[in-house]
Amino acid sequence: MRAGVLTGGGDCPGLNAVIRAVTRRLLASGWEVAGVREGWKGLVEALIEPLGMREISGILPRGGTIIGTSRTNPYKLPGGVEKVLTTIESEDLDAIVAIGGEDTLGVATRLYAEHDVHVVGVPKTIDNDLSGTDYTFGFDTAVFIATEAIDRLHTTAESHNRVMVLEVMGRHTGWIAVVSGIAGGADVILIPEVPMSVDDCCTELRRRHEKGKDFSIVVVSEGYELEGIGEAGDVDQFGHVRLSERGVGAELARRIEEQTGYETRVTVLGHVQRGGSPTPRDRVLATRYGLKAADLVLDERWGRMAALRGDAIVDVALEDATRELKMVPPEWYDVAKAFFG
Ligand code: F6P
Repeated sequence: MRAGVLTGGGDCPGLNAVIRAVTRRLLASGWEVAGVREGWKGLVEALIEPLGMREISGILPRGGTIIGTSRTNPYKLPGGVEKVLTTIESEDLDAIVAIGGEDTLGVATRLYAEHDVHVVGVPKTIDNDLSGTDYTFGFDTAVFIATEAIDRLHTTAESHNRVMVLEVMGRHTGWIAVVSGIAGGADVILIPEVPMSVDDCCTELRRRHEKGKDFSIVVVSEGYELEGIGEAGDVDQFGHVRLSERGVGAELARRIEEQTGYETRVTVLGHVQRGGSPTPRDRVLATRYGLKAADLVLDERWGRMAALRGDAIVDVALEDATRELKMVPPEWYDVAKAFFG
């Protein structure tokens, strides 16, 4: 028996830990494992390579993905789905382990529902926006990096009496902003889920400065709806624009300085949040997800995804996991808000 493993969408720390765990468990059960290069592109173009003990040696702490990734959507390519099915057949792949976020797992869901492809999923994304699981791996590392950035911004903000705006990723949800903002003690946090205006943000900053603080930290999600800022750039094969191109952080900093008179600077954290070694928590979560995915393959439980519920690794229907985005709930924002101003 032979399984293909693929990683799709934006990379994130912990992908290699999943690849290692899936491969180790399947090899131990007498399966062969193949690495499918660059996500769904590897099945469209038959880019397959063997994955054995040698290939996975030493990859647990390594960021990125040893099998590459892409945002290829076979449903958007002429004959793409047929090519995927042909490759699965010609490469004798009895199972596919798809490691990805909303987009990659959305394709997996359709291939399972429409073509009975033997697929199981693993929830990956720094954005933590997948319903069906409490946490995706990669998120903890992104929060760690963003928190460290806030800590560093604090010292320079304090020295210069400045407002520092930090723009973080997260696409259409504010998980990274809220959790790193709480951890780093941000004075205002702006996220897509909460329609807080720039005026309100400035009121909080003035309130803080009136209390004697002459510096502030504002964390803003790249997807925050800033009045007057539109969508920018082309869409990818999954219909996503590059939110970073909207320049929310820079425009917010400009408006804060204009409205308050406080000297303001912006830092856009960007792909630093996705690079480098995973935190221990992400390594462990990714490893547990990988073992669970391999077990789903061994038990032939197709169309399922490994998920975290509380402290337990469970499995859920892929369909449920990709049905809707998991937004930041008001209770989480309330924790952040208690420290505004
Ligand atoms: O989904 C992960 C993510 O890092 C988002 O937070 C961000 O909007 C997007 O990917 C950036 O994509 P790219 O790597 O294609 O610029």
